[in-house]
Amino acid sequence: MTRILLIGQDGQVGQELQKTLAPLGEVMSVGRSQLDLSAPEQIQRLIQQVTPRLIVNAAAYTAVDKAESEPALAHAVNAVAPEQMAKSAQALGAALIHISTDYVFDGSQSSPYLETDPTHPLGVYGESKLAGETAVQQVHAAYPDLQYAILRTAWVYGAGGKGNFAKTMLRVGAERPELRVVSDQIGTPTSASEIARAIAALAEQFLQPTRPENLSGLYHFTNSGAASWYDFAVAIIEEARALDWPLAVQQITPITTAEYPTPTRRPAYSVLSNQKIQTILQAPPPQWRQSLRQVIRELYSQKS
Ligand SMILES: NC(=O)c1ccc[n+]([C@@H]2O[C@H](COP(=O)([O-])OP(=O)(O)OC[C@H]3O[C@@H](n4cnc5c(N)ncnc54)[C@H](OP(=O)(O)O)[C@@H]3O)[C@@H](O)[C@H]2O)c1
Repeated sequence: MTRILLIGQDGQVGQELQKTLAPLGEVMSVGRSQLDLSAPEQIQRLIQQVTPRLIVNAAAYTAVDKAESEPALAHAVNAVAPEQMAKSAQALGAALIHISTDYVFDGSQSSPYLETDPTHPLGVYGESKLAGETAVQQVHAAYPDLQYAILRTAWVYGAGGKGNFAKTMLRVGAERPELRVVSDQIGTPTSASEIARAIAALAEQFLQPTRPENLSGLYHFTNSGAASWYDFAVAIIEEARALDWPLAVQQITPITTAEYPTPTRRPAYSVLSNQKIQTILQAPPPQWRQSLRQVIRELYSQKS
């Protein structure tokens, strides 16, 4: 049976991938306790032991603000580790699917970013993720037989994983009468389960007996549509209210980025175009609001 190695099983996307990859083969999943990505020699050893046909990397250093004070660790996990994965995959003839971020862009555009648009990260996290992309692409340039896909996504949330914007809004919305949320950063809230579905569609292509041509490369994938963090917060509270979720919040106030300073600058606009990946997906990604409704229902059923 086809063996798939899933790295990062406990993250938001990793948890969803356990479900979507299962029908495609024998999935061996590892989390931080089995594989520490800051120790590159462990990566090669594990991949050689498992001998997968496909490696999916859903692990990353994702603490965007903390990365400013831990640049070496962010670089090790987000750049050196994927490079090792690509080299080990190539040596085995395995394919690699790796995930990256909208934070490789500086947000100066006002129309959806294409895969060919120039990158310019604003902080250490974005820089480290871009270095990871470049490292995988360089392994492919040296060994074109390496099959790989890098999926850039954005504003990830889901029912699993440790925490995300939706869970935070529900928590503070249950405690406080007013929420103040940034309204001048625009992106696309994207559910972890939709990302896991898109990755399974790519994985299916890579696992075809006859190797698909020209599939390797960079892909953008998010839910459809666009929103500000303020719009997202309003929608989260509306969807929760519709389920009679107990909430204290009476008012959500839009604020500017300048009113909510963070250690890292974030792009003002980071909507990604889904145009390229449409050819691989069977249907266009659902509107972000539709996926949000499903996730809030899932969180509600976990709660009760
Ligand atoms: N979250 C977002 O808004 C967002 C936006 C754009 C792109 N992305 C990208 O999407 C992918 C999935 O993100 P996510 O939101 O699912 O992330 P997540 O929930 O933060 O999960 C990341 C996983 O990586 C693991 N990890 C971190 N450092 C590690 C290390 N040194 N060794 C082994 N495992 C380690 C974490 O382990 P622990 O559970 O032990 O910490 C966690 O399980 C990542 O590539 C991320 O960069 C995320």
